[in-house]
Amino acid sequence: SAPMVIAIDGPAASGKGTLAKRLAEHYGLPHLDTGLLYRAVARSMLDAGLSLDDESAAARAAASLIADKLADPRLRERAMGEAASRISAVPAVRSALLAWQQRFAANAVGAVLDGRDIGTVVCPHARVKLFITASAEERARRRHRELTLRGEETIFAAILADIEARDARDASRATAPLRAAEDATVLDTTELDPDEAFAAAKQVVDGAR
Ligand code: C5P
Repeated sequence: SAPMVIAIDGPAASGKGTLAKRLAEHYGLPHLDTGLLYRAVARSMLDAGLSLDDESAAARAAASLIADKLADPRLRERAMGEAASRISAVPAVRSALLAWQQRFAANAVGAVLDGRDIGTVVCPHARVKLFITASAEERARRRHRELTLRGEETIFAAILADIEARDARDASRATAPLRAAEDATVLDTTELDPDEAFAAAKQVVDGAR
């Protein structure tokens, strides 16, 4: 059968990552959390002492990104989401990472990719497109819980402010802004727990097979 590519997009802390992981396990597909690519580019710049405002350095860091970098636990830190969002607005960064993501998706079985522009730019021909969303307050509660469980001390109001700033930046940038593809199924998970979100997504995927 034809490869099964599942594109999952949505704002920060919408639950798209957890959902993508579960769908990948369920359907036996490789999974790429594309936010990690942007986080890894920002991380390698900071490690090299470069300014995140240096667009040509960001483009070079994206072009030389290697897969080993994606396992760095520091990529999940709160500050890295913010840093990733800044460099992700640079068109040359996006085009370097585009090739990387499309290579990942182009394999015989298919893949699950989650991010901001998978259904619109990276995999416009994906068999299934989901756009996962939830209220900013609910997303802030989830992110706050997740960071607390990881031992990072954070303040709820600061997380909420981060999320709102990131939503605004991701939605307003000129290149590949965050938005649902016209043919995406929108899933609002504000009132859903992870099992319910998975069941709803599975129904959409099974309907497309
Ligand atoms: O999803 P995550 O929070 O890890 O993403 C970090 C940042 O990377 C996002 O705020 C966004 O600016 C950027 N990103 C993107 N396109 C993607 C994935 C992430 O611009 N496909």
